Amino acid sequence: MKLHINGETREVDAPEDTPLLWVLRDHLDLTGTKFGCGVAQCGACTVHIDGRATRSCVTPAGAVRGRRVTTIEGVGDPLHPVQQAWMAHAVPQCGYCQSGQIMAAISFLRHVPDPTDEEIDAAMAGNICRCGTYPRIRAAIRAAAKALAGA
Ligand code: FES
Repeated sequence: MKLHINGETREVDAPEDTPLLWVLRDHLDLTGTKFGCGVAQCGACTVHIDGRATRSCVTPAGAVRGRRVTTIEGVGDPLHPVQQAWMAHAVPQCGYCQSGQIMAAISFLRHVPDPTDEEIDAAMAGNICRCGTYPRIRAAIRAAAKALAGA
């Protein structure tokens, strides 16, 4: 099947019900998207489908034909303001959850450009961080919102 990934059309030889996560990681070597729980409960595998944060571990690859898939590898060249804010606030600890966190944050700010802390917490609640980086995630999202508003 042909998939549109990070602005390119990619030919993938995989069954249609293969989770998009494994197509990205195993077929296309896009390993920035992580396997966390496998049941859409932790957010580590978050990518964008047509700009919306989506859990790739439970999304069949065949379901995204004709749609735009963006992974962490495709959001920043140069770095996206959310990635810059993540660096400025030294958000990651072990780092495992962080590509999913960043993908969730980018999608969230696209839809809610000037969020309150409560809106940030509600929007990011589905992205689990075992290292507890939540205060820094919130601070980075606030900073990224300001940067994007001034851009
Ligand atoms: S930084 Fe370790 S799980 Fe989030």
